[in-house]
Amino acid sequence: MTAPLISPSILSADFARLGEEVRAIDEAGADWIHIDVMDGHFVPNITIGPAVIKALRSHTRKPFDVHLMIAPVDQYLEDFAEAGADILTVHPEAGPHVHRTLQAIRALDVKAGVVLNPGTPVSVLGNIMDLVDLILVMSVNPGFGGQSFIPSQLDKIAAIRAMIDESGRDIRLEVDGGVNPDTARQCVAAGADVLVAGSATFKGGPGQYAANIAALKGKA
Ligand code: DX5
Ligand code: ZN
Repeated sequence: MTAPLISPSILSADFARLGEEVRAIDEAGADWIHIDVMDGHFVPNITIGPAVIKALRSHTRKPFDVHLMIAPVDQYLEDFAEAGADILTVHPEAGPHVHRTLQAIRALDVKAGVVLNPGTPVSVLGNIMDLVDLILVMSVNPGFGGQSFIPSQLDKIAAIRAMIDESGRDIRLEVDGGVNPDTARQCVAAGADVLVAGSATFKGGPGQYAANIAALKGKA
């Protein structure tokens, strides 16, 4: 089985030392950097915005995988693209016109992702497969790190893997929430190729990051 890409969520990093933390996970083998943007309205938590992303941009060349949990979202897309996002991922529930939102992301020359909450059906993808570079399956309800993986999402991952393969398109399939070495293996078996991991990357402090990422890739 091919090792998945690992996108550590900096939500579990030390926020007082974010630049150092991003450099540390880069050196430890992170493939992407997952940045959780929350507004206290779409989800019950508030995190970071474009200014912080811009400040982090000079600390790594790895792609910034920016997960937008904000509503409305359309009027902020440009700010996040200018701040240095490489991928902007949006929830269909964040606005009435997800098709238009994805078009707007692509028009900014940024990769477009769509994210499905645990309660969001796969059918949402039907008419937007030609507009996405990434599909993200939430294996927890969004808002907080450190929650437990919801096993029912494995069937959804497998169903989306079949849709992607059938489409013949170059679309990444990412999973976010409760990913640890054990659930990582299950996600990859179901067809995921990118895994977000907050707690499982940052546990034990900087000396452990390389071993934590290797374990998530199934190499330890
Ligand atoms: C949850 C976020 C996740 C979160 C993952 O709303 O989207 O990215 O940080 O954290 P862990 O890996 O600890 O479940
Ligand atoms: Zn996330």
